[in-house]
Amino acid sequence: MAKLADIGLIGLAVMGENLVLNMESKGYTVAVYNRTVEKVDKFVNGRGAGKNFIGAHSIKDLVASLEKPRKVMMLVKAGKPVDDFIELLIPHLEEGDIIIDGGNSHFPDTIRRTKYVESKGLLYIGTGVSGGEEGALKGPSMMPGGSPAAWPHVKEIFQAVAAKVEDNEPCCDWVGEDGAGHFVKMVHNGIEYGDMQIICEAYQMMKELLGMNADEMHEVFKEWNNDVLDSYLIEITRDILGFKDEDGEPLVEKILDTAGQKGTGKWTGVAALDLGIPLTLIGESVFARCLSAQKDLRVEASKVIEGPKTKFDGDKAQMINDLKDALFGAKIISYAQGYNLMMEAAKEHNWNLNYGGIALMWRGGCIIRSVFLADIKSAFDNNPNLANLLLDPYFKDKVEKAQAGWRRVCATALSHGVPVPSLTSALCYFDGIRSERLPANLLQAQRDYFGAHTYERLDKPRGEFFHTNWTGRGGDTASSTYDV
Ligand code: 6PG
Repeated sequence: MAKLADIGLIGLAVMGENLVLNMESKGYTVAVYNRTVEKVDKFVNGRGAGKNFIGAHSIKDLVASLEKPRKVMMLVKAGKPVDDFIELLIPHLEEGDIIIDGGNSHFPDTIRRTKYVESKGLLYIGTGVSGGEEGALKGPSMMPGGSPAAWPHVKEIFQAVAAKVEDNEPCCDWVGEDGAGHFVKMVHNGIEYGDMQIICEAYQMMKELLGMNADEMHEVFKEWNNDVLDSYLIEITRDILGFKDEDGEPLVEKILDTAGQKGTGKWTGVAALDLGIPLTLIGESVFARCLSAQKDLRVEASKVIEGPKTKFDGDKAQMINDLKDALFGAKIISYAQGYNLMMEAAKEHNWNLNYGGIALMWRGGCIIRSVFLADIKSAFDNNPNLANLLLDPYFKDKVEKAQAGWRRVCATALSHGVPVPSLTSALCYFDGIRSERLPANLLQAQRDYFGAHTYERLDKPRGEFFHTNWTGRGGDTASSTYDV
């Protein structure tokens, strides 16, 4: 009998093809299936020729070609196609077999699917896979969650294909139960939105305020990539700025300024709102994409609304240094907020998340990979119960040192009318979190004034609520004392 495959894959689009080539290169035999079956033959006789692939023309054939317990990974479009393939697979699988979803699924769907698949006697994994096409082929970051019993069966394959960092550590480890893996991947994407936005804000400052051209900005990003900001996104920005169109002009300047988005950033923002976590930098980054998409409205408004006319007359070199500090400071805030969100979600969903481990998973292979993540890992290694990244001595020191330049950037942007929503909102969060007293006392008074919503007092124990008849006209009934 022919050798059975170690794992099966459904979905031979760009990510699927590259991931199975990666698996095969690590010594695994992979069975492949695609809904448009011609793609299977094309792949097996094309990029997969002479390699250990088994082409399957039906789900039944795919399942029949797998070693037990069978592992079938789907790399299909998130949403209905995932549910459809689960239904198609279930009748062919038997107890202990594992269905894996490697797409960008929304975590509540993964929670639901884990329960459903487990109710059929099977195991389920929802795994984040990051790194795009190249990552899938050469080593992605992988963030698996789902049925814990499934992990020992896929661990070896997943860790073999994942990116490796210092000491050959794989950027893949078990994240947690049901939707934990996809939740962490979602936060990764939210942070990706934030990192991209603050880089774009720095670019706009350099271009609009300092009048720099693409070549000059390319040089700045090149320099930044050698230091604390060293990361994949800074690196590709450097390359994009240096890239010339056929006419020798920078291509980036010819691209329409309306950003697309597939929804993972929005999901992160919604999760933060649901859990009551201030995720301001990522939230502003999602909204910045939304505003960019309102191009017609902006064109119209730009013709009629005046802003400040002041030209920048400060020290250009100093401002470039300040921008570096602003990016670093805001990046620290973004991760502090993202980790805060994961901590709250872990409480809500009973996930036992390993925060240092997550930093290691993001350290290589994925879109947000950076040297910075090694420091986050150290912060959680030093204190696994760290409540907020800003309380870690290293990050506290760095953010304090970055603030002078970062404040100059924000102040200059505001006074010159350059929109930098993520850099400024991050700075406001920084000032908010270090404020012992915020103006919410006034806010509580307002709530109590118009709606008898009650307030707690500084001079009384927490949990004791008061209502004042502010106008002499209202009654003494607090809103909490009656049900509507
Ligand atoms: C990754 C990326 C990827 C994501 C794209 C596009 O980790 O490899 O996050 O999963 O789909 O970055 O996202 P947007 O279209 O929403 O920008």
